[in-house]
Amino acid sequence: MLHLSVPSQDTQRILSLLKAEKALPEGARVQLDPTDETRRLIPFIGPISNQDLAQFAVIDVETKPSPARTYRDHLPSLLDSQIVESIEWPTRHEFVGDLILIKLDENQRKYGPEIGVALLTQHARTRAVFEDRGVKGTFRVRDLKLLAVKEGEDPTTRTTIIEGGHRLETDPSKVYFSTRLSHEREGTIECATKLRESRGRPLAICDPYAGVGPSILPLITVPGLVGELFVGDLNPSAVDLLRDNIDYPSATIECVDARELKTRPEMCNKFDLLLVNIPHDSLEHLSSLTPLVKEHGIVRGWAVIEDDDFENAKNHLKEIFDNTYTIEIRRSYSATANLCRFEGQITL
Ligand SMILES: C[S@@+](CC[C@H](N)C(=O)[O-])C[C@H]1O[C@@H](n2cnc3c(N)ncnc32)[C@H](O)[C@@H]1O
Repeated sequence: MLHLSVPSQDTQRILSLLKAEKALPEGARVQLDPTDETRRLIPFIGPISNQDLAQFAVIDVETKPSPARTYRDHLPSLLDSQIVESIEWPTRHEFVGDLILIKLDENQRKYGPEIGVALLTQHARTRAVFEDRGVKGTFRVRDLKLLAVKEGEDPTTRTTIIEGGHRLETDPSKVYFSTRLSHEREGTIECATKLRESRGRPLAICDPYAGVGPSILPLITVPGLVGELFVGDLNPSAVDLLRDNIDYPSATIECVDARELKTRPEMCNKFDLLLVNIPHDSLEHLSSLTPLVKEHGIVRGWAVIEDDDFENAKNHLKEIFDNTYTIEIRRSYSATANLCRFEGQITL
């Protein structure tokens, strides 16, 4: 590429002149002139009409193309430049194990396969790229459409994720899973550890909306923390994956509606810690679940609460936990609602 050799002190001025001339290439990189350390080399494109610039020596320097910074930098080699310039390409995507999930609008969808290939090119460890068409059904699983898969690889949506050093098998097209709650799961370990200290013995824990088990897996790896354990989910696919993920001798793993557990006497008044993670229904399900918890046991749950409903939610928790509860907004869920975490103690 052609460069102007300019005195170091003129670098900024010449850069501005080249920019005004539209002769400065994208991502231009100024470098030292190897023949004279008092000078700098500035790349330029096209003929230069400005006389001020024409006075400088022109040197042809071999430059390496700058590495692609995002998948969008690969699109010009896959699509016509007019198309590349006419579309506003998505700027966000989600990694789930060795998969990438990406949301597309109508215009972007026409070029889904090219977006997929560009993402695979940019992210060498990714096996397949899927369009994420939102959540569907009672189990809130993702509607996924394959955009691209690495040559010779399996286009399955089943994948392994690593969270906090733990390996979890999951399948976003069959079961709910969100990496966004990983911070909450760290908090669950802290909550359980404190409770374990106060009880002076391993805890009986119940996670009846366990999904593929991301909250339970870190707990069972803490020595002496968990005694009896119940993990369940109503989605049979989640339970299949739970059986792969939760390897704990005293664990009971079941496909069951959490609200039915209270009808089984052996499940009542049994647990020190109950997790309630079904955010759109947690508050509604709560009264069916509290019979499972021992006196002074803790219920830790998450709920999506509309701003207008926040006072009602607090009153509901007050009724159930008789004032021994806390509630905290954790993050915004929509323009009018937040994801909140509550913790309450059972007093009989
Ligand atoms: C928001 S997800 C939480 C999953 C998991 N705890 C996590 O953090 O990834 C809620 C889970 O509840 C399950 N579910 C929905 N209704 C249920 C019910 N009535 N009883 C038990 N599980 C249910 C869904 O299949 C889903 O896996």
